[in-house]
Amino acid sequence: MRTPAEGLINMKLRSQLWRILNPFHRLSKRLRFILLSLLVCLSVIGSYWVWAQQPVRLSMMLQAQEIPNWQLIVDDFEAQNPNVKIDLIEGPNATNLREDLYTTSFLLGDSPYDLIYMDIVWAPKFAAAGWLLDISERISEEELAEFMQGDVDGGRYEEGLYRMPFRSDGGMLYYRQDLLAEAGFDPPETTAELLQISKALQSQGKAEWGYLWQGKQYEGAAAMFVEMLEGFGGYWVNPETKEVGLDTKAAIAAVQFLQTTVADKISPPGTTATDEEVARNLFQTGNAVFMRNWPYAWKLGNDPGSSIQGKFGIKPMVHAAGFKSGACQGGWGVGISKTTRHPDEAWKAVQYFSSTEAQRKFILASGFVPSRKALFTDPALVAEYQYLPDLQKVIESSVLRPPIAQYAQASDILQRYLSAALTGQQTPAQAMQAAAQETRQLLKT
Ligand code: GLC
Repeated sequence: MRTPAEGLINMKLRSQLWRILNPFHRLSKRLRFILLSLLVCLSVIGSYWVWAQQPVRLSMMLQAQEIPNWQLIVDDFEAQNPNVKIDLIEGPNATNLREDLYTTSFLLGDSPYDLIYMDIVWAPKFAAAGWLLDISERISEEELAEFMQGDVDGGRYEEGLYRMPFRSDGGMLYYRQDLLAEAGFDPPETTAELLQISKALQSQGKAEWGYLWQGKQYEGAAAMFVEMLEGFGGYWVNPETKEVGLDTKAAIAAVQFLQTTVADKISPPGTTATDEEVARNLFQTGNAVFMRNWPYAWKLGNDPGSSIQGKFGIKPMVHAAGFKSGACQGGWGVGISKTTRHPDEAWKAVQYFSSTEAQRKFILASGFVPSRKALFTDPALVAEYQYLPDLQKVIESSVLRPPIAQYAQASDILQRYLSAALTGQQTPAQAMQAAAQETRQLLKT
């Protein structure tokens, strides 16, 4: 029940409202319609204006280890381009697992990633599948000539360019300068010397392990193995003829060498579960003489807290007597997803990341390798990383993993059979014969 007082208040409110709306009601129907339409238009324009003020958001997935260093250059880019924001999404550490995630997102249709941070071995597959924008029209050959040739070539597929080089990479041999000098050894050139020095220093109790390398079943093992193949005079797949060399004498000898390192306890029994970071962390404890790794481990090994700070050197990989050393060409670059709604902003970001300024900052902070030729002799970088000029030569003559569209499957086959040989399930010859056969089958289709 309403009280008489409430009834009075309600009547007053109604009459006030009527007074406000009355003039509007007194307007002609036509004028009312015009005014209402105007109001609707203004609110649509208003919301569009608010929406247009939102920055464009681009996203890119990468490994956690790189995020703090990437954030530095992303911050600089965003400061210069306040209308663009870049979200760095953390992905798994192993390169092939991130490749799988990118692949799944492309297969689902509308990839949430605008920028694709790509390993050198992904571009042919992603480009062949039509998942990337061809950026060849956006950059001249003169500008591309400023980058390391292998890194540029890694982004080409047929007539197109799908990836701008960001950081280069090449596999190296790390050795304990102090231990070798004490025992009167020169750094090894051949695999036999590496075994001999390892055994000598292990038996003297100078180090628990001789040689650390990546034997886990993942892409890192494939990268390590192309260095062994080159060092034993073999090859994996000839990209022109699609010929497969995994069952040649040279390839089997390369597997035998790796197997010997584990069988003779020169490498730890956990080698079949060792990736780059496992090897680096063990090397950094000071308990190993040699390690195969990428140059990023140099800066971390020389950190103030590291027990091997200033005690190790790097050199080209060992090889069998009579053959030459091979570094696997690694490296990362940025491409643009075909489904991005912001191709121009994405290209602006790619251009910035590949610039001299951004690369210098990133390399100084991270210890990774530049992809711009001039940065290998840049005074600021050389002051920090004295090995850069030599590394440039090593990377210039490095070995590519086969740049074929079916690379991911070919690598998977190799990883499986390498693992079978290293864990003793098959002999090196059996494993390599089976790997060769499966690879031939794959490349036939
Ligand atoms: C490094 C290399 C890359 C390679 C990967 C393997 O990140 O740059 O090319 O595929 O290691 O783990």
